[in-house]
Amino acid sequence: MGFLPCDDDGSAVGIDLGTTYSCVAVWRRGRVEVIPNDQGNLATPSCVAFTYWRFIGDAALNQAAMNPLNTIFDAKRLIGRRFSDVSVQGDIKLWPFKVASGKDDRPMIVVQYRGEEEFSAEEISAMVLFKMKETAEAFLDKTVEKAVITVPVYFNDSQRQATMDAGAIAGLDVLRIINEPTAAAAAYGLDKVVGSSDKKKKVLIFDLGGGTLDVSVLNIDPGVDIDMGIFEVKATAGDTHLGGEDFNGRMVKHLVREFLRKYKRPEIRGDQRALRRLRTACEKAKRMLSSTAQTTIEIDSLHGGVDFYATVSRAKFEELNMDLFRRCMDTVDKCLRDADVDKSSVDDVVLVGGSTRIPKVRSLLQDLFHGKALCTSVNPDEAVAHGAAVQASIITGGADVDELRDVLLLDVTPLSLGVETQGVYMTVLIPRNTTIPVRKKDNFTTCSDNQTTALIKVYEGEGERTKDNNLLGQFRLSGIPPAPSGMPKIKITYDIDANCVLKVTAKDKTTGRSNSITITSDKGRLSKEEIERMVKKAEKYKAEDEEEMKKAEGYVTP
Ligand SMILES: Nc1ncnc2c1ncn2[C@@H]1O[C@H](COP(=O)(O)OP(=O)(O)OP(=O)(O)O)[C@@H](O)[C@H]1O
Ligand SMILES: [Mg+2]
Repeated sequence: MGFLPCDDDGSAVGIDLGTTYSCVAVWRRGRVEVIPNDQGNLATPSCVAFTYWRFIGDAALNQAAMNPLNTIFDAKRLIGRRFSDVSVQGDIKLWPFKVASGKDDRPMIVVQYRGEEEFSAEEISAMVLFKMKETAEAFLDKTVEKAVITVPVYFNDSQRQATMDAGAIAGLDVLRIINEPTAAAAAYGLDKVVGSSDKKKKVLIFDLGGGTLDVSVLNIDPGVDIDMGIFEVKATAGDTHLGGEDFNGRMVKHLVREFLRKYKRPEIRGDQRALRRLRTACEKAKRMLSSTAQTTIEIDSLHGGVDFYATVSRAKFEELNMDLFRRCMDTVDKCLRDADVDKSSVDDVVLVGGSTRIPKVRSLLQDLFHGKALCTSVNPDEAVAHGAAVQASIITGGADVDELRDVLLLDVTPLSLGVETQGVYMTVLIPRNTTIPVRKKDNFTTCSDNQTTALIKVYEGEGERTKDNNLLGQFRLSGIPPAPSGMPKIKITYDIDANCVLKVTAKDKTTGRSNSITITSDKGRLSKEEIERMVKKAEKYKAEDEEEMKKAEGYVTP
């Protein structure tokens, strides 16, 4: 069978940059290998901590309880967003670390690290990516510079660009940013298509991770004449704020209430160290409850000298989270509606993401599909990195994978793209979930008499009014001959290429005059100089870390 990438030297890796955990994989010797880190774990916490030292991954998470103010996680919830964003403001209230407003309304994470320091979310993510790069280099015993990085399907342009910037700061050449479910589909498609029947399949991918939920409906078509499979994303739905972290949050709240009831010490609510220890214990307990019916939590000297003991049952955990689990199912329903797909016509329901190990999530999903057996052949924690590695290898591969390249990377627009009309309305040219590359055009006209210029404002989003959407860019078409309103004909074309770059052109049909704009980035994006500066800063810290490590050799950790 020819459905195999051919780059065999493992020079490009796939990285699943998760909210809570990250995973790196590589295509080598004809198969995907998920790479263990220096602790032997396949998933590395997306966590960075600062003391006198800097820690990334497991080492950072392990010291979190002792150092809550300087242990940074969830950077993915900040990346590419503005400080004033409602969701950012909501998250800040929950985090033990400090986030301040920086230049251009950019959120800046404030830590104590040999003095007060500020880091952007891109820089924190870059440190995690750097750790993944190092992990791959140690395993492959060579330099790794190229990577495909995955993002949730709901990430907008600015969040995607910021993720690319993070890669650049980490010294990676980011070959492409791809959607997580598309990557999972690549992993799944490979498994299913090679050597299988030629029946078309409809697959639903349910990815419930630490921070986000992605649901997608895909068509997998093994093809008749060609020796390979095709899969296409039909629709996606998701929630950027629903996942394992939220389930932990519910358990923490429950246990704080129990602590208050038993010990009447309300100050625990402000004791960051206690809350962090509680959260760590809840994470452990939650995982236990996926395989046992009951578990205990024991934390010595949690707060005010009190040793805290509690029992949590699986039933209690489910009760605490039932509305969140239901929200997951609603998202599945929405995705099926968007794709105009009947439940009974779905051939496979695929589980992706660590939180799909929760039995209640599985049973609710199974009930939703009238008792259908769920598909777990793809390891839920590895599927995304696995698919990213396949795609990285295809992109860097030889000529004989040329057709595969286009086929495998079929992707969709995560948000609708349109133009502002009458100064307030969003007129959609390319609806959400359209397969790219794509070109769409429509005719517009002037709204006042003798109007000689038109301002073309390009937006992305689902709001009916542009004020609820993101402005991507704007330009003017001038030289329209004076005429009564409604007479001139202006043709606007939206063109998206395979790299998600959008080009908008406006043309006056009478004069033939046209103007256009190419949108590759959002205003909130880092400039070249800023990235350069951050790369230098990252290199400096790394050098300092190494220097200090050398000095400390033979000594115990201070
Ligand atoms: N056995 C288990 N039972 C319940 N939850 C689990 C189990 N194992 C892992 N998890 C949860 O899975 C989550 C991590 O999943 P995953 O690594 O897929 O997420 P992520 O990729 O970091 O997040 P996202 O995809 O949202 O960006 C964590 O919240 C973790 O607590
Ligand atoms: Mg994930």
